[in-house]
Amino acid sequence: MLHTLNESRSAGPPQPMISSPPALTSVDIRDLKYIYAPANKRPVTALENVSLEVKAGEFISLLGPSGCGKSTLLYLIGGFLPIVEGTISVDGKQIAGPGPDRGIVFQSFALFPWLTVLQNVAYGLRKQGMSKANAEDNARSFVKLVGLEGFEDSFPSHLSGGMKQRAAIARTLAIDPKILLMDEPFGALDAQTRSLMQDELLAIWRRSPKTVIFVTHDVHEAAYLSQRVVVMSARPGRIKTIVSCDFDRSDPAFVRSTQFVEKVDELQRLVRAEAKRAEDAIGR
Ligand SMILES: Nc1ncnc2c1ncn2[C@@H]1O[C@H](COP(=O)(O)OP(=O)(O)OP(=O)(O)O)[C@@H](O)[C@H]1O
Ligand SMILES: [Mg+2]
Repeated sequence: MLHTLNESRSAGPPQPMISSPPALTSVDIRDLKYIYAPANKRPVTALENVSLEVKAGEFISLLGPSGCGKSTLLYLIGGFLPIVEGTISVDGKQIAGPGPDRGIVFQSFALFPWLTVLQNVAYGLRKQGMSKANAEDNARSFVKLVGLEGFEDSFPSHLSGGMKQRAAIARTLAIDPKILLMDEPFGALDAQTRSLMQDELLAIWRRSPKTVIFVTHDVHEAAYLSQRVVVMSARPGRIKTIVSCDFDRSDPAFVRSTQFVEKVDELQRLVRAEAKRAEDAIGR
């Protein structure tokens, strides 16, 4: 069984007069709409009517056809795009920009090309005021964790796509954010590394509980990692449905259970239907 913040609370003796507090909502998205309005071009409504409550400590994935607004939603939660319509609150407070409580792994890696792998990973820790020696010590363990030992002094231009992606993941994990936003973080990895990184991410999430919002195109990955999968509709992105993935994961063979296989099929059907709608819209 996955270990979550809620489950880790001790039950204690029954106290009939005091009702237990409701589970914390970590990210509360209400009636969100986002329109890109590039100069001299037609505006694009990327998101419409998006409302979603993500609980503290929850691992949630966003699935949906290309262009349905997954990255846009993540940037809005991260505070990298202005919120014009609707609200996003983190622990009850409306956000108004980026904050150290939210760490993001961008779809495009976004490493600093003038810094080495180690300096990139240590960057956030230095910004938080950690001494150079401590930051680099800490960074070294995350570089190792993502399998980049030996490449500490390499610059991003000398790394493969998958290595850059792993360096970007290490940089975000190093700052240990309360809310981890990941935009197709394993997209550039080979199957073997991807599977190792998935398990590493789950281990980190269990060890130091955090809320994870994870974007992927891979339905198997979404079902394997998440407690709930949010399926988005073709553009303009709305929430089509939310699929619960509450498997007993204590036995690694759960991925071969009928329950898991059927869940993956269900997600596949939902995403295919939306991808088809997106294609039909282009053809019209
Ligand atoms: N800077 C921008 N200016 C104008 N339109 C944009 C911009 N960024 C994204 N869009 C449009 O907004 C829509 C949503 O884009 P977004 O990148 O959020 O989709 P996505 O679901 O992350 O897609 P993918 O799975 O391909 O990464 C798309 O139609 C895209 O063309
Ligand atoms: Mg995207």
